[in-house]
Amino acid sequence: MIVALIAALDEAGGIGKDGGLPWRLSADLRQFKALTIGHHLILGRKTYASIGRPLPGRTLIVVTRNPAFAAPGCLLAASLEQALALAGQRGESEAFIGGGSQVFAQAMPLADRLYLTRVHTLAACDTFFPSVDWAAWQETARQEHPADEQNEFAFTFMRLERRRPDRFLKPVRSCGCGDRSRPMPLFW
Ligand SMILES: NC(=O)c1ccc[n+]([C@@H]2O[C@H](COP(=O)([O-])OP(=O)(O)OC[C@H]3O[C@@H](n4cnc5c(N)ncnc54)[C@H](OP(=O)(O)O)[C@@H]3O)[C@@H](O)[C@H]2O)c1
Repeated sequence: MIVALIAALDEAGGIGKDGGLPWRLSADLRQFKALTIGHHLILGRKTYASIGRPLPGRTLIVVTRNPAFAAPGCLLAASLEQALALAGQRGESEAFIGGGSQVFAQAMPLADRLYLTRVHTLAACDTFFPSVDWAAWQETARQEHPADEQNEFAFTFMRLERRRPDRFLKPVRSCGCGDRSRPMPLFW
């Protein structure tokens, strides 16, 4: 199973402000939906609370340490590892980690793929994406978008795959846990 992080971050790595998103980018929300539809989407409890409902077409797994927490229409997990195991048991091929900051930080070492929207502004955020070791990642897609009526800032969609030296030493084979040799459909 591929583990993918999906996030929008400003020029300082900021992702959130006052418990919500610091920008209004319709094209980014459409892209988020197109990429995550049909998949398991793992969210921290605070990010789930900022949405407040299940997202159509996605199976949400909310990570919380509170055994009494209720999220109608969603699955719950007591840790990120448990959430990923649950997605795998349910036959997921690409599990999406949708934040927020706490969950991204824990998931970064496990990630195979990053879908990043680089928002070209400084939004005075109070929550941040973990630092990225860019040398460990290979950019495989990029698309620039100008600001317009529906998107208050210019932004760049990026897709990155973790560099894995063993891929160049051995032929790529399916491991039965998500086929890394099959190209993913691109939405940009
Ligand atoms: N720009 C973006 O792409 C993006 C994406 C997502 C979110 N955001 C923003 O990020 C902010 C929220 O991020 P955040 O870091 O404050 O919160 P968060 O990561 O969404 O949620 C944190 C909560 O998740 C639970 N949790 C975290 N690690 C856990 C673990 N190992 N085991 C069990 N439960 C765990 C805990 O819930 P309990 O307290 O219930 O135990 C914790 O309080 C918001 O502003 C949101 O809008 C931005």
